[in-house]
Amino acid sequence: MEKKVIFSGIQPSGKLTLGNYIGAVANWVKLQDEYDCYYCVVDLHAMTQYQVPKDLRRQTLEAMAVYLACGLDPEKNTLFIQSHVPAHAEAAWLMSTMTYFGELSRMTQFKDKSSRQSENINAGLFTYPVLMACDILLYQADLVPVGSDQKQHVEITRDIAERFNNRYSETFKIPEVYIPKVGARIMSLQEPTKKMSKSDENENAIIYLLDPPEVIKKKFKRAVTDSIGKVQLSDDQPGIKNLISIYSVCRNMTPEEVVEKYKNEGYGVFKDAVADAVIEVLKPVQDRFHELMNNKAYLEEVYKAGAEKAERTARKTLRKMYKKVGFIPR
Ligand code: AMP
Ligand code: TRP
Repeated sequence: MEKKVIFSGIQPSGKLTLGNYIGAVANWVKLQDEYDCYYCVVDLHAMTQYQVPKDLRRQTLEAMAVYLACGLDPEKNTLFIQSHVPAHAEAAWLMSTMTYFGELSRMTQFKDKSSRQSENINAGLFTYPVLMACDILLYQADLVPVGSDQKQHVEITRDIAERFNNRYSETFKIPEVYIPKVGARIMSLQEPTKKMSKSDENENAIIYLLDPPEVIKKKFKRAVTDSIGKVQLSDDQPGIKNLISIYSVCRNMTPEEVVEKYKNEGYGVFKDAVADAVIEVLKPVQDRFHELMNNKAYLEEVYKAGAEKAERTARKTLRKMYKKVGFIPR
């Protein structure tokens, strides 16, 4: 029986965070045996914010190294860089003609980002979901594992795909979103009602995957909590709730089990325990990451082989799309 297909990606727009790990990559690793997986470093998407060229180059390579360091096996998965497969950009043009201004205007990420980067509300920021839809549809993906902030983008992908299928006959598989039960939205350590995001200017709000242990300890010690002083699951305690989610994912326990274990402890003790859990999970990832970054030839081998394989699948779908809309084959 053919395996079902997964597609997902992360933008190389900064250093990867604990949110990217828990919300995305850690789940990808769990899915790699059961599915035929395409995991992409989406550099075209990263261009919707200004990137310093040399930083973008480094961050792209680092993201690829993180994928491998987290345990994605290049023999089992197709690991590649989005700009290496031109079909993504080509498909995006065609699909942008079938996506409406009104539906793109409703995207909350567009609204958020355009208020944060009011000096650079570029056309790409607006059409971003169309490119994301093509990423997914070109591989006929069944499942898209992402954090909850991306749910709306997967929904618009389904709408665009259905529109194409209805207009030109069955062409695309309609993908489903896959959101983890715990950890779908890791919050900022400083403003726990906001998502932990690579682009936050306050470094204390973010745990980076490559933060050394002392830094991780310090950031958790400073994490904003509340004056209630009890480790419990309550919407009035977003900071503590976030720490419970993080601990729960790192120690493979349910949030309720975590509360049971720490309900009689103070926040200081709990924060230290969370920091230790994160440090333990990240240590092997960091060791392997540094090894990989010292072996650029290997990284290159992986992303070149990935692009070749991705290209074959993506071209096949793109050819079908072109034929169906009436383009003359060369
Ligand atoms: P991005 O960093 O925006 O490219 O996001 C890459 C992936 O990480 C997507 O699947 C996001 O949903 C996920 N992600 C990013 N930040 C978080 C977060 N704070 N909590 C959970 N998942 C996240
Ligand atoms: N938009 C996603 C994010 O910022 C990244 C992304 C691009 C993606 N293309 C994708 C995720 C396709 C899943 C599938 O997180």
